[in-house]
Amino acid sequence: MSDKHQIAVLPGDGIGPEVVREGLKILSAVAEKFCISFDLQEGIIGGAAIDKYGKPLPQSSLDLAKNADAVVLGAVGGPKWENLDYRIRPERALLGLRNRLELYANLRPAKVFSTLIDASSLKKEVIENTNIMIVRELVGGIYFGKPKGVEKLEDGNEKGVNTLVYTTPEIKRIAKIAFEVASKRKKKVLSVDKANVLESTELWRKVVTKVHADYQDIELSHMYVDNCAMQLVKDPKQFDVIVTTNMFGDILSDEAAMLTGSIGMLPSASLGGNNGMYEPIHGSAPDIAGRDIANPIATIMSIAMMFKYSFGVDEASEVIESAVEKILQNGYRTKDIMDNSGKLVGTKEMGDLILKEIQEA
Ligand code: IPM
Ligand code: MG
Repeated sequence: MSDKHQIAVLPGDGIGPEVVREGLKILSAVAEKFCISFDLQEGIIGGAAIDKYGKPLPQSSLDLAKNADAVVLGAVGGPKWENLDYRIRPERALLGLRNRLELYANLRPAKVFSTLIDASSLKKEVIENTNIMIVRELVGGIYFGKPKGVEKLEDGNEKGVNTLVYTTPEIKRIAKIAFEVASKRKKKVLSVDKANVLESTELWRKVVTKVHADYQDIELSHMYVDNCAMQLVKDPKQFDVIVTTNMFGDILSDEAAMLTGSIGMLPSASLGGNNGMYEPIHGSAPDIAGRDIANPIATIMSIAMMFKYSFGVDEASEVIESAVEKILQNGYRTKDIMDNSGKLVGTKEMGDLILKEIQEA
């Protein structure tokens, strides 16, 4: 076996390839700085794969991801493929990768940069110092539960079904991750459910509480998802780690992302299986693709998460984070986070600035 880290690169569609290109620049520079050797192999997924192979996740790309230590993903989807049957839509590539690689824990940090405080639509006093880590269950719940599908009824109508299923082991393993993540942060976990209505999330609450017995130094509380959605905009500072189901996590993480001003800033890590997958939270933004205006910071910060969670080099990840912070402090802004006094730069220039900062650090 080689001692090189094998990294699969899946740029996908829309702005995916251009933000991934900037991410890889940073990856090479940081790897060099910390004497980490790696091999990159690129695969095709999403709409690009539909065009070439007729399916969003060809076996060759899945194998590439399976055999890698870490996967760097851009984004998938676009209007061209929107009318396809949902089973072969670009998004299925993402769901397929998560499921087949057993990436059950999705870490989505939402941290407000002090330099970008005015980019948020909320008041400065409300969001200042917000630093939340959403731990979203990623391979279960209503996204994957059975029965599912649309069937014809005898009376001529149709019936659409999705099922919210969670088993004890599925809840246990995600709860453990949340407590472990919290032990390196402010030692506070909030578990979000809808236990007053949905039985499967009543079980969720029970199991999370049980797992908590092994983590007595962590404070655990519970909240219903509707209240949590409200509290996130009312007083986001109250949160540290939020652990929740697949769909609640999907929704709450978009909400949390906007506290920080732009969804173009937020990275994610999907963990649990043998390897980790790292991707920006944002989508493929086909309307701005190829115009050199997309914000590459979410992808660059995803690379930072890769160094931390897949390669265990926390320092490498800190170097990236401080370079990003420094460039923001110096006033450089992509279009999505532009303000009155900012210096507007494109995707590539933002990548170059961060790269230079890292090389000179
Ligand atoms: C996300 C996205 C995906 C999801 C879609 C594109 C399948 O919204 O990663 O949050 O719903 O999980
Ligand atoms: Mg989402």
